Amino acid sequence: MNLKCCLRSLILGILLENFVLAELPDNLKKLEWIIGKWEGQFHGKVRWPTIPTMTYGEILTIAEAPVAAAAGISFLNYSAVSWSHSTKDHLHDEWGYLGVNRNGVATLMTTGNNGFNKIEEGPAQYGLLVLDLKEIGRISFSRDLPVKNLRRTFRILDSKHMEQVLDMQTDTHPKYDGTQEHARIIYERVA
Ligand SMILES: *[C@@H]1O[C@H](CO)[C@@H](O)[C@H](O)[C@H]1NC(C)=O
Repeated sequence: MNLKCCLRSLILGILLENFVLAELPDNLKKLEWIIGKWEGQFHGKVRWPTIPTMTYGEILTIAEAPVAAAAGISFLNYSAVSWSHSTKDHLHDEWGYLGVNRNGVATLMTTGNNGFNKIEEGPAQYGLLVLDLKEIGRISFSRDLPVKNLRRTFRILDSKHMEQVLDMQTDTHPKYDGTQEHARIIYERVA
């Protein structure tokens, strides 16, 4: 073997290794489109029959999380930090993980500063993620609404924009079956 050939295969090897390392695990590929930093600075709207309508901003950060070898599950990590333009208050933040199982069902599990733990599930698709509430846990001193149902929809609008809509049902609203819109925001991809 001449030196040139060995050098070439060495370089190829390094490139290939980097490529493999940088590739997303199979289960997460259908959610690759949601990875990034998303800012919805001004146009978020919260509406609910029992509270005044307000505008809010939110920054959503979704990245590849380190994998624990012992658990062997690849997750994206997830943070949503939001603030109200109307009241200047800090709103609900959520931190957690987003994963996809072997059958292509996505699960978002989050902990929020409203005292809730939630597990939301739905099919992982390209450009669209609709998650329904499966489990909710509350700390003993949370003061929040008696949430019964949640449906969260992330939808890609174009190469730079994504929308999130949150539909909700509480013990008192709406009175009949189903959910009603609680929050809607459009984000711009900033990273
Ligand atoms: C997600 O994981 C990355 C890589 O370890 C880390 O830098 C980032 O802070 C994590 N983000 C959240 C929201 O946990």
